[in-house]
Amino acid sequence: MRRKLVVGNWKMNGTRTENASLLSEVLRACEAVTALPADIAVCAPAPYLAQCQQLLAASPVAWGAQDVSAHASGAYTGEVSAAMLSDFACRYVIVGHSERRAYHGESNELVAQKVQHALGAGLTPIVCVGETLAQFEAGQAQAVIGAQLEVVLQAALEAGRRLGGLAALVLAYEPVWAIGTGKTATPQIAQDVHAFLRGKLAERDTLAADKVQILYGGSVKPDNARELFAMPDIDGALVGGAALKAADFMAIVGAAG
Ligand code: PGA
Repeated sequence: MRRKLVVGNWKMNGTRTENASLLSEVLRACEAVTALPADIAVCAPAPYLAQCQQLLAASPVAWGAQDVSAHASGAYTGEVSAAMLSDFACRYVIVGHSERRAYHGESNELVAQKVQHALGAGLTPIVCVGETLAQFEAGQAQAVIGAQLEVVLQAALEAGRRLGGLAALVLAYEPVWAIGTGKTATPQIAQDVHAFLRGKLAERDTLAADKVQILYGGSVKPDNARELFAMPDIDGALVGGAALKAADFMAIVGAAG
């Protein structure tokens, strides 16, 4: 039985003051229950990772980044390396988010390189895949997602079993048409894609396929989380907007119970 994982993607939001109050509310809610029904993490903007480390170090809430460089170190102005994220004890890093693919021209190959660097630094990459509305309507969702996944699986296998191979990944299915739009994929649409992704993992490594958490992302809210989480291959959520309100975020965590 895979444990559920709920990850907040803060995107480019927050201030030191806002983060401190959001996290203290999240931690209070964590303390109020004897056992959390899911693993929890927040992915913060890079400048706030030190703050996350300071506030969350002794807590059940993990933290991570929203992107990582495809290079190890050197003359890459503005980039943040996987080793730097490890230096701030990040556990996770989101890789290949659709906003990075759309606004920063990230290709499947670049995403795969980032995954390799993340694995090499001991981070768990949360690899995002998803189709646009036009692709969804043209019935191309699986072809697009399959191509996005293929290079990443290859990269993870090349990174080697020493680094956990495919089992070291977390996947996130985020239909682009559902992100920040208030439109969620129906639980059945999401389940079908999640089962497809797990099938692709199983073609290479059945043990890993059973272990990898596949998150759903795209307008996850307290009122739709439970029915999404009830699906056999939906192992949690990557939450944008609702992760900025502690009550909503913790209600989504609660829906995993
Ligand atoms: P949303 O964002 O929950 O605001 O739709 C999800 C994401 O982009 O990770």
